[in-house]
Amino acid sequence: MNFPKLSLLTCLSLSLPHSFLALKCGQWNTHSCLGDIDIRYDADYTNSITEQNDLWAKQDGFYMVTQTSTQEMAHFNPVDLTGTVGLPYDDNAVVSYVNITTSGSRRYEHRYIIYPPAPQEFCDLPVPPGATNVLPYIPPGVPVPPGFAPVCGVNGYATFVESFKTSSHEKDGSLVNVGGALGFARDSGFDKSGDGVAYAIGERSLSFTGSSDRADGGKGISSKNWIFIGDDFNLARAVLENYNANTAALISSTSYQYTKIASEEDWVDMLQAAFVANNVQFDIASRGGPVPMERACLGARCPNETEWCEHDPECSESPYKEPNARLKAGVVAGFCIAGAAVLLAIVTLIFIRRLKQQKERIKAQFAARIAATIDLGVDANIAMNPDALKEEFQKIDSGADDGGDGYISKDELWAFMSSGKAGTMTKKDFDVLFLTLDDDGNGKVDYLEFINFLSTCGAYVKKEVQNKEDFVDDDENSA
Ligand SMILES: *[C@@H]1O[C@H](CO)[C@@H](O)[C@H](O)[C@H]1NC(C)=O
Ligand SMILES: *[C@@H]1O[C@H](CO)[C@@H](O)[C@H](O)[C@H]1NC(C)=O
Repeated sequence: MNFPKLSLLTCLSLSLPHSFLALKCGQWNTHSCLGDIDIRYDADYTNSITEQNDLWAKQDGFYMVTQTSTQEMAHFNPVDLTGTVGLPYDDNAVVSYVNITTSGSRRYEHRYIIYPPAPQEFCDLPVPPGATNVLPYIPPGVPVPPGFAPVCGVNGYATFVESFKTSSHEKDGSLVNVGGALGFARDSGFDKSGDGVAYAIGERSLSFTGSSDRADGGKGISSKNWIFIGDDFNLARAVLENYNANTAALISSTSYQYTKIASEEDWVDMLQAAFVANNVQFDIASRGGPVPMERACLGARCPNETEWCEHDPECSESPYKEPNARLKAGVVAGFCIAGAAVLLAIVTLIFIRRLKQQKERIKAQFAARIAATIDLGVDANIAMNPDALKEEFQKIDSGADDGGDGYISKDELWAFMSSGKAGTMTKKDFDVLFLTLDDDGNGKVDYLEFINFLSTCGAYVKKEVQNKEDFVDDDENSA
């Protein structure tokens, strides 16, 4: 029997799925998933900022913030109305009200900045042409609201900064900048520039870095480090440094103190009171909108969904994709071995069935040949007549040159099988027949072997005899 040769290559090409049939990792037959050891590849791992690092949850809340700036220019400089350089207030006297809200994969920070009125000494100084010593400034051509006339030394000023961040595909609690906005009065559009990232460091620190394009065409780099001071995480300090990336000069360094306000209500009250106390020329509602906020941002335009989804891992595609799984090496071998075993079993089964069919064919033919000549008497159900069998044996034995020696030779059996009406047997079947008859393999069949074999084809003999009797009956009936 020839079994098909299974080279490993054949096996592989037959058993391995094509590359477009993606294999799932982590199955019994494939390698474990990258996502099991690397959360970036785990599509099910949370994108929630606070679940990734609860320091962000600790930072969430409402704050009152005081600050100290080293930036000299920030103090009482008339603002250049074309270049928007300068600030006619005291940066160090600023009080901010900050609302940090984290929700799922998104973080919102809204900061109201309130400047007290400038001192009279500053207001008495001459103002250069094209500049002003009081804000907000309404550019020529823009309708001035009724009663709007801010006066230096009388009115304070308010502006805002806000920023929007999302968690990242790193899934490590780091945040990326979606963008931000600055100011009621100046450019209040949503600004996507700034490729900032933020990290939680250890148990108490948050670090923010970013860069942005400066109005003067240069590049700004900023770094802000936040540290929780109190054990209840209600007090924090932060230092913000701004650099000019082109000149490496430090533009400003500001340190902040954040005090958490226990309730949103208190915070809203404090914020509104600060607008009044500092004589801010407009109320919040007329500029940034009512507080609590009813819009998603304070500026003229909020980040839209498309802009959020440039970064938000909830709605953007991760660069970390679980690759198609590979089969385990053992499985490939196992499959080949199992495959070959199955093939072998099938081939063997077919072989055994053929053998059985051949045996039955031979027996049937032999039985038919015997039954054609032997006189079995009337009752076919009775065991075959021993005398008749002996006679049959001798008849076959008498055939060739060595006739009557008590053994049936191969030639004698061939002569017997080829005579009569039992049909012709193939040479191949005949060889098998002789081998089966010749039990001891001595090349000749003795009487005992002859009887032995006949007994195994009893059923066929009986069938042949039955056919013969039916034929006789039919014959008689028709007579
Ligand atoms: C704080 O910010 C969140 C997120 O933008 C906003 O939904 C909420 O109304 C703000 N709270 C107040 C008091 O303005
Ligand atoms: C979102 O804003 C961008 C500008 O950054 C704009 O091109 C886009 O059409 C806006 N998408 C939607 C859905 O409003």
